[in-house]
Amino acid sequence: MENTEILLKKIDEKLKEVLSEKRYYHSVGVMKKAEELAKKYGVDESMAKLVGLAHDIAKDMPKEEKLKYVKEHNISIDDIEAKNIELLHAKIGADICKNEYGFNEKMQNAIQYHTVGSVKMDDLAKILFIADKTEEGRKCSNAEQVKIISNESLEEQVIYFIDQSVKYTIEKGGLLHPDSIYTRNYLIEKRNSI
Ligand SMILES: [Fe+2]
Ligand SMILES: [Fe+2]
Repeated sequence: MENTEILLKKIDEKLKEVLSEKRYYHSVGVMKKAEELAKKYGVDESMAKLVGLAHDIAKDMPKEEKLKYVKEHNISIDDIEAKNIELLHAKIGADICKNEYGFNEKMQNAIQYHTVGSVKMDDLAKILFIADKTEEGRKCSNAEQVKIISNESLEEQVIYFIDQSVKYTIEKGGLLHPDSIYTRNYLIEKRNSI
């Protein structure tokens, strides 16, 4: 992988081309938040910044292009992704970052797991998951609660944000992704075994 600053600059330039202004600023916000969390929890700050900035690189890709991309790059799609193409931006983003910027497997995984979570999430992935929900530009109706939860462990924060997103998906009448449920169950069992 190239020097972090050079890579960040390259990705930043690319994002300005492929993302809406709003999503671009969200990405910069996630980068800053991920760096802050990496410092706090002792995770590699360069990797945190890079995945934070790049995580939504494929988000604004039109639906047809997303489908074309996964086909051409042999990326597997599960049942829920097939019905909610939007979710694919995580897998596509991870693949783009591997091919274009030489992201290592750990960083690819963090990007791949940032939408619905995974039982395989390591601390870098947890940080990205949390930063995506808590960056400064994100509107938040329960800021007080989020502030309280921010003093907890990474695992407790992930459980909280999965709960929030599951509740939201249910209210919208949307489809839940099984990985969110597996991740939640896994972390709750882990919590209960301590
Ligand atoms: Fe995303
Ligand atoms: Fe995001």
